[in-house]
Amino acid sequence: MHTVKVILSSEQIQTRIAELGKEISAHYASVKEPLVLVGVLKGSFLFLADLCRKISVPVEIEFIGVSSYGEATESSGVVQITQDLTRPIENRDVLLVEDIVDTGLTAKYLLDNFKTREPKSVSLCALLEKPAQNQGTIAIDFCGFQIPDQFVVGYGLDWAQKMRNLPYVGVVE
Ligand code: IMP
Repeated sequence: MHTVKVILSSEQIQTRIAELGKEISAHYASVKEPLVLVGVLKGSFLFLADLCRKISVPVEIEFIGVSSYGEATESSGVVQITQDLTRPIENRDVLLVEDIVDTGLTAKYLLDNFKTREPKSVSLCALLEKPAQNQGTIAIDFCGFQIPDQFVVGYGLDWAQKMRNLPYVGVVE
């Protein structure tokens, strides 16, 4: 039986999300068309759900599916889109919402891919970043927390598809 050591409590996460929501709302205060929030499946589903309710400018919600680790815990560097956006993003302000930036390869691939679709702007928001892994691969415009280089679970993040429903972020012991 595994135990999970909490590193970010539900309260800490919600407090930070409220701050991020304010920052994002201020940044996009003058947009003419709704901001397109793109959640990366599956890990960002809880973060996106909580974040969008703290954003005061009009938003549209999209999801994109990518294959990342499979059941392994090391990034392969190979990213494949398994489910694409449902609508074009040409001339739109787009904010990619990631659960975690580890090596940054997934976010970099998706941002590069989005740029080919000629959006008005494209930025990145991530709840978590492991700076020890993301060494200059990708700049995060709105970052929740920087964490040590440990495998974390909960609040959307899985360990072989399990533990996504934990309300906190923790390390499996
Ligand atoms: P990257 O491409 O190395 O930045 O990895 C990004 C993806 O890997 C994330 O969206 C997660 O799905 C997964 N991932 C990276 N680190 C962790 C972790 O510590 N726990 C759970 N999933 C992780």
